[in-house]
Amino acid sequence: MKARKLAEGIYDVGATDWNVRDFHGYSTESGSTYNAFLIIDEKVTLIDTVKKEFTEQLMAKIASVIDPGKIDYIISNHTEMDHSGALPRVLHRIGKDTPVYCSKMGQKNLSSHFGQTINFRAVADGEELSLGKRTLKFFETRMIHWPDSMVSYLIEDKILFSSDAFGQHYAGPERFDDQIGEAIMPHAKKYFANILWPYSPLIKAFLTKLKGLNLSIEMICPDHGIYWRQNPQKIVETYAQWCELQPRSNKALVVYDTMWHSTEAMAEAIVAGLTAEGMEAKPMHLRSCHRSDVVTEAFDAKAIIIGSPTLNNGLFPTVADFLTYLKGLKPKNKLAVSFGSFGWSGEAAKLIDDELKSMSLDIFEEPLKVQYVPDQASLELCYEFGRRIAQAMQ
Ligand code: FEO
Repeated sequence: MKARKLAEGIYDVGATDWNVRDFHGYSTESGSTYNAFLIIDEKVTLIDTVKKEFTEQLMAKIASVIDPGKIDYIISNHTEMDHSGALPRVLHRIGKDTPVYCSKMGQKNLSSHFGQTINFRAVADGEELSLGKRTLKFFETRMIHWPDSMVSYLIEDKILFSSDAFGQHYAGPERFDDQIGEAIMPHAKKYFANILWPYSPLIKAFLTKLKGLNLSIEMICPDHGIYWRQNPQKIVETYAQWCELQPRSNKALVVYDTMWHSTEAMAEAIVAGLTAEGMEAKPMHLRSCHRSDVVTEAFDAKAIIIGSPTLNNGLFPTVADFLTYLKGLKPKNKLAVSFGSFGWSGEAAKLIDDELKSMSLDIFEEPLKVQYVPDQASLELCYEFGRRIAQAMQ
């Protein structure tokens, strides 16, 4: 395992997780990387670690550059265990007293994970740390992605080590934006939608602060996925757009599950009605599409229409799962409405409606329900339902 040189004296020593397909509920069909960085200066510095299972990969890459025992400082930009899990093992190998620089909240949170015995050095927002010829400057980025999050800017090399911000769950042969091109953007969008969406106002504030600092940035190195070196400003500008949470006015999403194809027939008739009015609409079946892919589509949809059959007086389990996941992401600025088939009691559509109301979405109208199998007249109702939603979107 060899480190990859990013610049003179700066190395990528992170781990590639080719096989991860579920990242705490998010489908990572391309795997992921846990990026970590080694800076060789008068003070040898490791920025972030990796998941604990990848400790040996990290240590081997460090050893390909320098004896790991020569590390003087560790920077922990973020406590979550995909970046800190290896920390106790690294400290055990290189010396338990090695100082670990982190935010004040990072000290609190790392202590809650790994105990109080680490030699913490809490840094303030804007504080600098001299490594010799180079200087790191730290900026707090609370809730991007945890309360402890911060980023580290290497002043002389103009590199921003951005932790979770600007990341993507992607493992591939490419390591830089210029090697993969536009193909990385769907991964970046999925990451934003599933991880950072609820923190959009804070990200917006951070981007404003970043602009005000007028930092010259030649490379952005997030803790997941590829590095932005060809045009780092592009991902910053894309984040600025995503933070606005402005849905595409012609995009609607029909999300559903079905038992005997009745709710499915309703979903497809609703999509037909939306499409007839010029909307870009598609059905997403929750046992064919992963919740994290549905959320990625929902992120910039203007309308979200959710359907469930009634199962034992309640929601179909996948629909309940999706509603829980969506609610946590705090969607805004969307029309929402529910539908569903039922046999005798018919609670599901109302239960979805209750959840959509609790998310403070803009409820379009009462739920649409059909008993047992929709006949032609019922399908016509669904079609017209779709058309009315489309008209409300305009
Ligand atoms: Fe990649 Fe919030 O950890």
